Amino acid sequence: MATEIGVAVIGAGMAGKAHAAAYRVASSLYNPVLPPVRLVSIGDVNAEFGSIAAKRFGYERNDTSWQAIAEADDIDVVSVVIANSLHREVVEGLLAAGKHVLCEKPLSDSLPDARAMAAAAAESDSIARVGFTFRRTPGIAYIRELIQTGVLGEVFHFSGRYWTDYGADPQGPMSWRFAGPAGSGALADVGSHLSYVAEFLCGDVKSVSGGRLSTVIDRRPKPLGAVMGHDHAEVGDELADVTNDDYAAFSAEFATGVGGFEVSRVAAGHANSLIFEVFCANGSARFDQRRPSEIELFLTGGPSATNGYRQVILGPAHPYIAGGLAMDAPSVGFGQNDAFAYQARAFLEEVAGIDENDSLPRCAGFDEGIHNLEFLAAVAESAQNEGKKVSL
Ligand SMILES: NC(=O)c1ccc[n+]([C@@H]2O[C@H](COP(=O)([O-])OP(=O)(O)OC[C@H]3O[C@@H](n4cnc5c(N)ncnc54)[C@H](O)[C@@H]3O)[C@@H](O)[C@H]2O)c1
Repeated sequence: MATEIGVAVIGAGMAGKAHAAAYRVASSLYNPVLPPVRLVSIGDVNAEFGSIAAKRFGYERNDTSWQAIAEADDIDVVSVVIANSLHREVVEGLLAAGKHVLCEKPLSDSLPDARAMAAAAAESDSIARVGFTFRRTPGIAYIRELIQTGVLGEVFHFSGRYWTDYGADPQGPMSWRFAGPAGSGALADVGSHLSYVAEFLCGDVKSVSGGRLSTVIDRRPKPLGAVMGHDHAEVGDELADVTNDDYAAFSAEFATGVGGFEVSRVAAGHANSLIFEVFCANGSARFDQRRPSEIELFLTGGPSATNGYRQVILGPAHPYIAGGLAMDAPSVGFGQNDAFAYQARAFLEEVAGIDENDSLPRCAGFDEGIHNLEFLAAVAESAQNEGKKVSL
């Protein structure tokens, strides 16, 4: 096992900070089996963003190019948390330099680039993983367990939406999120998470149909300075074209069951609402990211006068929580930032060479990242062809 793991995060934006914080707490989840984790560098072309994040999360330095991180001998593990169109160049450069890479979702903004990244990963001796963070959410993992152990049983149908409103204000600044081909907007940004969760529960997608993409705000003001995440930066009078989708809908057929999906970045009032309900042979379950510490569960068979959905508060009896959170007690709560910490822990365990049976479930591989992009590409193809069925 490695005697020390040196860590860097490329991108000090909205999600980059979550990765930076996650590596900081990863060792403190569960028993201390990891070798010492050294927080080495935050890399961001914006030196101010990088330096603030490095200081805040206790990293030794910040760098302003990914090449500096690739060349550094004291770095073993790198999270790539920058715009999707930049993933390929940086990931390939890091793999060539022998770094282990955790790349944010979606793996890329194009399938050919994602396939090239996977080929580079396969040729390297490095571990290359994708950050599908929601597989770490205890409520989602528990619903999967209920399906797979037969408590809920076979999935009949899934109804999911990921509504966000970061693009709802037409005066919100243009950023990388609003540029790219059809399907690279809300569908890639939040639809990548929802489609991944659906397959996590229902098995592999077989076909999609009824695809619809819509851009409702087709021009946005250019920012006067740097924009971080969904921030409302100061804007000027000059406008830029929005070239991708604000909204997407589709239906899908899975290994078991079918599903209906809606994703949006213009759903005013829903800053971050990943919500789904899954209907199965023995009952149903509901999850809502706005209440990540609970699920709702309905099991058939009880007396109809008293049976109905009930709230199940997550605690040490559920995946990830027992022995993980510092206060190991029922109803302590769990949030999206915690999921990044469990993801970092799982990645570091793999890099440290800890046996899979003694580790958290591994992070998704690049092959899963490609499959996810194929799923989303099928939705875009369906949308371009008046909702026709596209098989995968
Ligand atoms: N897993 C999740 O829940 C989640 C949440 C948000 C974003 N993401 C993903 O994370 C990635 C980044 O999204 P974000 O919202 O943090 O973006 P962001 O715009 O907030 O931050 C991107 C950062 O990258 C920096 N940057 C730009 N070019 C660079 C380069 N060549 N080298 C180094 N730094 C560079 C920018 O200065 C900026 O600080 C995307 O792939 C996105 O899909 C995942």
